Amino acid sequence: MGKMTNKVALVTGGAEGIGATVGRMIVDEGGKVLLCDVQVDKARELANELGDNAEAFELDVRDLDQWHAAVQAAQERFGKLNVLCNIAGISEPGIVTDVDLDSWTRTMDINLNGPFFGCRAAIPAMEAAGEPGAIVNIGSMIAMRAAAFVAAYSASKAGLLGLTRSIALDLAERGLPIRANMVHPGAVRTPMYDSYKYSGADTPENIETNFAATHPMNRIGEPEEVAKAVVFLASDEASFTTGCDFTVDGGGSIRS
Ligand SMILES: NC(=O)c1ccc[n+]([C@@H]2O[C@H](COP(=O)([O-])OP(=O)(O)OC[C@H]3O[C@@H](n4cnc5c(N)ncnc54)[C@H](O)[C@@H]3O)[C@@H](O)[C@H]2O)c1
Repeated sequence: MGKMTNKVALVTGGAEGIGATVGRMIVDEGGKVLLCDVQVDKARELANELGDNAEAFELDVRDLDQWHAAVQAAQERFGKLNVLCNIAGISEPGIVTDVDLDSWTRTMDINLNGPFFGCRAAIPAMEAAGEPGAIVNIGSMIAMRAAAFVAAYSASKAGLLGLTRSIALDLAERGLPIRANMVHPGAVRTPMYDSYKYSGADTPENIETNFAATHPMNRIGEPEEVAKAVVFLASDEASFTTGCDFTVDGGGSIRS
């Protein structure tokens, strides 16, 4: 039996990077997954590769109506919903005095409002399943520690930390067997990371060295290392864990 046997999960950002890796690991661990993303063609390619236990769905996490449709699609395709992994996210540079206002709003809409809409749409379905459920939100080392030039990103991830704790408490105090936790990655080798690495701000080698140096373990993480933590928190193995911050950051958040 795998960690996710009998579990149906909805994963956002499921087309590539950490979300795609989580989707793949859920199926490897015996679960079923709806891979949701704006890049639906890429999500479909992965779903085809994973077989009958995966399906793709076009979802822009900024749209609550689309969220209701995604939850319904998971229930229709797989019979229920047990797990929500809010992984879709964006990171755009900017300090408070010059951050583009559209960029600020877009970041809040995708990184913070998206998971809020997701929880709002998914919790009733998870409750209706009548089984243990789990929400896993993806934060960042930068939710725990300051970083320059990413004001909107820092604020969105710190806001998501507060939302996750609030949801965990609400669910537990209502006596529901649904947990909510958060995973905070450090720099992880995904298309998001590659967009910094090949941004032209410096040579890719120097960018990698500088990013690695912000982590005491002095390297970049791999998406599988984050996915293992997400799948653990999504599974019944974490049955007494709710409202927690699980860092997968090579010690980055404890560096002073
Ligand atoms: N890679 C890192 O170094 C790193 C570090 C800390 C935290 N994170 C967080 O991990 C999560 C995943 O990051 P990643 O590195 O895999 O990113 P990525 O850019 O490689 O993948 C993100 C995915 O989210 C999707 N997405 C973007 N906007 C969306 C929207 N509005 N609706 C639905 N899907 C949307 C993209 O299409 C893409 O498939 C993000 O929340 C990110 O903030 C990443």
